[in-house]
Amino acid sequence: MARAALLPVGLLLCLALACGADAVRKTVGVYELKNKKGDFSIKVTNWGATLMSVIVPDSKGNLADVVLGYDTLAEYVDASSAFGTVVGRVANRIANGSFVLDGKTIHLNKDGTTVLHGGLKGFNRVIWTVKEYVPRGDSPYITLYYHSFDGEQGFPGDLDVYVTYQLSCPYQLSARMNATALNKATPVNLANHAYWNVGGHGSGDVLGQVIQVFASRYTPVDRNMIPTGEVAPVSGTPYDLRAPTPLGTRIGLVSGAGMAGFDINYAVDGGGGFRKVARLWDPQSGRVLELWADQPGVQLYTSNWLGNVTGKGGEVYGQYGAVCLETQGFPDAVNHPNFPSQIVRPGQAYRHDMLFKFS
Ligand SMILES: *[C@@H]1O[C@H](CO)[C@@H](O)[C@H](O)[C@H]1NC(C)=O
Ligand SMILES: *[C@@H]1O[C@H](CO)[C@@H](O)[C@H](O)[C@H]1NC(C)=O
Ligand SMILES: *[C@@H]1O[C@H](CO)[C@@H](O)[C@H](O)[C@H]1NC(C)=O
Repeated sequence: MARAALLPVGLLLCLALACGADAVRKTVGVYELKNKKGDFSIKVTNWGATLMSVIVPDSKGNLADVVLGYDTLAEYVDASSAFGTVVGRVANRIANGSFVLDGKTIHLNKDGTTVLHGGLKGFNRVIWTVKEYVPRGDSPYITLYYHSFDGEQGFPGDLDVYVTYQLSCPYQLSARMNATALNKATPVNLANHAYWNVGGHGSGDVLGQVIQVFASRYTPVDRNMIPTGEVAPVSGTPYDLRAPTPLGTRIGLVSGAGMAGFDINYAVDGGGGFRKVARLWDPQSGRVLELWADQPGVQLYTSNWLGNVTGKGGEVYGQYGAVCLETQGFPDAVNHPNFPSQIVRPGQAYRHDMLFKFS
């Protein structure tokens, strides 16, 4: 959307981050990456390592911003939504906010009965450091760094975290993340929480868009959205999206926490390698997003709880206004020994690569 492109690049906003008695001043900014042709660009902020915009052409060359978000950094800082952020240290839910690791019970900082997306002040609500920024050229990129301290939100051990967003030809965006445990074993499960609408962020709901998820199994949840531990076949259920499926034909057949719509983790087919995860097609604009990644699962969330949030250019984002495709380890893996382990030991690194291909 042209209006979003008018947002001043390099806009700086100073925030005071209270650290005990000391107030450490850090700077939050907006960083743009753009291809040579000028028809493919993203904006990122180091607040929450957030992907603020992704502008791509359709088959006729019409540009649209295909992620939901806000015009100003202040709105990102104030928001309760996770539009475009990197969530961690552990994405998704941890039952009761606790787990046993090497015989020791770890209690996370809780708000309510579970811990969601790393806690109240997870990686999406902290200031990251810009390590490298190459805004133009064949493969522009930005690398963001965050040091998560021992005991942050209750998680054990210091952790060094890097996220790199990079554009490549013709219309590919990669997000590569890694995290190194420095001194204690800890669970790590990072996810990008972009809200995709390949018709354009202001184009209304996604019910007419066609989804495909390359997964023959999923992890059913209880009424509190905690996995039962089962890894069940999608075959014969409304969760079977292996063939291209208009979202609107399934939205009323599935639900999460009492609200119609998808909010479920799929076990992506094909083992742990880098492979195709999902495809989203908007028949109106013709735009396609194909997602590749190397993680065990992907959370499909159809913005079931999105309640008329005013976003970029004054557009109002309502229920089913976007699709989140969060590649990840399985939710609550720390409490399910049969799920792939997300534990990273001192000196070891967690890695997570995503590729978003637009056509
Ligand atoms: C969470 O707590 C409930 C009761 O408070 C208990 O039944 C359940 O087993 C606990 N879950 C985990 C994963 O510890
Ligand atoms: C993590 O990513 C950063 C930035 O790309 C890189 O410098 C570092 O070597 C990576 N660490 C690991 C353990 O892969
Ligand atoms: C959002 O706006 C629509 C259209 O005005 C309305 O029908 C709906 O009830 C609103 N939803 C919420 C959660 O306020």
